[in-house]
This record gives sequence, structure tokens and C-alpha cells, in this order.
Amino acid sequence: MDLKPLSIGLLTSGGDAPGMNACIRAIVRTAISNNTRVIGVVNGFDGLINGEFKFMGPRDVGGILARGGTILQTRRSLAFKEARGQRDAIRKMNEVGMDALVVIGGDGSLTGANALVKQGMKVVGIPASIDNDIWGTNMAIGVDTAMNTIMDAVDKLRDTASSHGRTFLVETMGRGSGYLAVMAGIVTGAEMVLTPEVPVTLEEVADAIEDAYRRGKTHAIIIVAEGANFRTTELASLLDDMDLGFKTRVTILGHIQRGGSPTAFDRLLAARMGAKAVDALLEGKTGFMTGLQGRDIELVSLDEVVSHERTTNPDYYSMARMLAR
Ligand code: F6P
Repeated sequence: MDLKPLSIGLLTSGGDAPGMNACIRAIVRTAISNNTRVIGVVNGFDGLINGEFKFMGPRDVGGILARGGTILQTRRSLAFKEARGQRDAIRKMNEVGMDALVVIGGDGSLTGANALVKQGMKVVGIPASIDNDIWGTNMAIGVDTAMNTIMDAVDKLRDTASSHGRTFLVETMGRGSGYLAVMAGIVTGAEMVLTPEVPVTLEEVADAIEDAYRRGKTHAIIIVAEGANFRTTELASLLDDMDLGFKTRVTILGHIQRGGSPTAFDRLLAARMGAKAVDALLEGKTGFMTGLQGRDIELVSLDEVVSHERTTNPDYYSMARMLAR
């Protein structure tokens, strides 16, 4: 095969997200179609520091499109935060002849990618995190699948909640972001949503439950983002100490939200972003992230991405409240 001198490295980093494999597949096959070598980096930035490399061909990514997780493994690297870790990584990249790198991950991983750009490396980032807390893209890879997992779980919990006349507090992931919780509130018709962005009082939560009870509802579903201003289990016992009509149960969805086969939306997003990242590097571009803006995948400056905080539009919070009435 007539290979261009360019070889592209590829790693996944931070919390895994459904669709990472679909993205790996897209990158490998787009690169190979352009006669470019692909070097898979195992174990995220730790693997870059330790030189855990493997050359990848089209068959190495066969059968992974529908699989959650990441075949390259992922880590939250502490070593790469240090200047020494970054120096070691750059040395290993040069030793293996890696001319450019694609980093698939969340905001911490994109900050790592940007650190390499500042040291002269050619890097493009791809946003992948169920939290949807990355500036510069409407959606990150994995969000839609996680949302569908939450929706499925809450639909099931509603069956048992209504049969028993209970309040269910359902805890969702999202770290400091309330995106998953508030959108899940809308798509499941939850009575209330607790997010880090909009702190609430115990009285407000109790009112929402009492109100549901008084209006003849058979149950109440409250979505609690993990970063909200109450710990879910403590909130449950505080509510149970009040006489609100419904007894309280807690379900913490946890890492289930990160697993499973990616939805069509996530597979498509992963394919488009993977192909766009390789095209950008082949055109000699560096220091960008692929972002979904409107209908298009655009290149957004990594500097901009890591220096902005993405917030969840408060209108969605009000919409969730209004639609639950
Ligand atoms: O960033 C993704 C995420 O799932 C967050 O929602 C959550 O707070 C965190 O990762 C959990 O991390 P870990 O898998 O290291 O426990």
C-alpha cells in the first residue's frame, strides 16, 4: 500500500462514553482510506507516556460499531497533568513516528490535548462524555445513549412507583452539570429536577411532592443530578420524616448510564466527528475540536473550548417544571 508519511495516533481518555468505539472505527478507516497509518494508544494519556502503541488496520475495528466502552481502554491520567508526563509522552510520540494525534474524551482530556498543542504537537480533539458539559458542541458522543438509558430506567421505575404510591428519587450522573438530569426530567415527565445550576430548598422539594399528591397523582418522580445541592440518600430520609403522602425510595443509576450499545444518533455523530478529525489533520490543521453546530460538524479552537464553561440553558429547567403540572 502506498502510505503517506503521516501517521496518526489515537487515544480515548477520561470516563468512557457509548460511541467511542464507533469513533475509533471511523478514524481508523478514514485514515487508512487516505493511505495514512494509524497508531492506537492503549490506556489513554498513561499509554502515551508509557509507549503502549499498536498499529491498527481496518480489520482491527471490525465488529465494534455497536459495542459500548472503548477497545483502546481509557484512564484518568494523573501523570499527564505534570510537565514531566507531557515531556515523556512527546518523546514516545516522536520515537514511534506519530505525526499527529486524535484525542477522544471529555473536558479534562481536551485540556490534555491542548497542552500537547502548546508544545508543538498536531492534535485534534473529539468531545465524548455523557455529561454534555463541553463548550463548543451541541452534543458530545455518548450523551444520547445515556439519556435513553435514563429514560428507559425512569419509565420502568414509574410503573412500580405508581403501583405503590411512592416518590422515587432517581440519581443521574453529570458531575457539575445538570444537563442529563434536566433533559431526562423533560423526556420522562418527572415531577421535579434537582440540578447543580439551580439549587432548591427542602421545602420546595416537599411542596412538589405534596402538590403531586394533592392533585391526585399516584406517585412522584424526582430526578436528582449527582452534583445537586442535596445528597440523594439524605434527601430521601429528610422527606420520609415529613408526612407528604408518598413514601420515598432511591435509585442511583450510576455507571449503567455509561454502558450499552450506542444509539443511531451517537453512531452517526461518532462517524462524522471521526472522519472530520482525520480530514483536519490531513489538511495540516491542529488545535481544534470537532463540534456539532447546527447540522454541521465544525472545527472549534481547543483554546476556546477549554477556556469556556458550558452551561445548561435555564429555560429547560422551567420547561421541565411546567410540563410536570
Ligand atoms: O464524566 C463522566 C462521569 O460518568 C461523570 O458523570 C461522573 O461524575 C464520573 O464520570 C464518574 O467517574 P468514575 O467512573 O471515575 O467513577
